[in-house]
Amino acid sequence: MRKIYLAGSGGMLGQAFHQVFGRDYELRCTDKDVNEPWLDLLDFRDLDGYRKDVEAFRPDYLFHLGAHTDLEYCEQHVEDTYLTNTTSVENAVWIANRLDIPLLYISTAGIVDGSKDSFDDWDLPNPLGHYARSKYAGELYVTQNARRHLVCRAGWMMGGGPRKDKKFVQKIMKQIKSGKTELNVVRDKLGTPTYTMDFAANVKALVEAEYWGLYNMVCEGVTSRLEVAHELVETIGMKDRVRINEVDSDFFKAEFFAPRPDSERLLNRKLTLRNMNRMRDWRVALRDYVGSAYSHYL
Ligand SMILES: NC(=O)c1ccc[n+]([C@@H]2O[C@H](COP(=O)([O-])OP(=O)(O)OC[C@H]3O[C@@H](n4cnc5c(N)ncnc54)[C@H](OP(=O)(O)O)[C@@H]3O)[C@@H](O)[C@H]2O)c1
Repeated sequence: MRKIYLAGSGGMLGQAFHQVFGRDYELRCTDKDVNEPWLDLLDFRDLDGYRKDVEAFRPDYLFHLGAHTDLEYCEQHVEDTYLTNTTSVENAVWIANRLDIPLLYISTAGIVDGSKDSFDDWDLPNPLGHYARSKYAGELYVTQNARRHLVCRAGWMMGGGPRKDKKFVQKIMKQIKSGKTELNVVRDKLGTPTYTMDFAANVKALVEAEYWGLYNMVCEGVTSRLEVAHELVETIGMKDRVRINEVDSDFFKAEFFAPRPDSERLLNRKLTLRNMNRMRDWRVALRDYVGSAYSHYL
């Protein structure tokens, strides 16, 4: 059995990777937050500790998944953001090159500046805030230095269910569960949802085909926060009981003060050209996600 070391795998995406890769590979999963019985403690900011732990496992691949993903935290903790999201990625590159194994790094749609409607794999990023800048710096370091690498850019992540999802779907579900019948949702933010299970399965296909390089990897079908909210409310059968108020981003400027592009819609052009695009339409993925992770939630 081939072996994979998954660093920072205690979050939304790590859960999907553990499920999808765990069937066919021997895994060592680590995180600084040990929230599963299959996780061990490792802070990847510590180069020596990271190197020793990976070397002891002797994996065939290194997957560097973790990061600080809260944009507001990143604006307020700049040093820790670059240490976690950029310098740690340099650690991963050195370790992967030393062991001569391929490295997977997860980048984000958030590195674009929103200056056009949608962005393919070859549009030049122009990050607006510290989260995006730290992730783009990691991406550049990997593509320029890792001997064999896969860099996959995800969009608005959905996955992990009530316990792990920190993002939009859970934020909406939590409000509905608390009894809210009116939701305020921004009308001016465009993007592409990305279901963690589809993402992990598509990464697996690329790894097994050895199609290294950089790929946009988001659900098919561009959309907006507003449209996702409407679809979600309809999916859970609450359309008649929950009203959605359209607001501008300014409405949330105190709570969500980090800069965000107006559009971070990605197109999977390269995946499609290589005939490797396994990402489903976001509506299909959303229904699948909500049906499997939230069936007993409300
Ligand atoms: N979430 C999104 O919308 C999104 C979109 C595009 C790309 N991405 C990228 O996808 C990847 C996976 O993110 P996710 O969605 O799974 O986020 P997540 O749920 O926040 O998981 C990230 C995990 O990394 C851990 N971590 C942070 N610093 C660490 C360190 N120094 N050492 C070890 N582990 C550490 C976190 O622990 P703590 O919880 O203790 O900090 C957390 O368990 C990240 O690289 C992220 O930038 C995410």
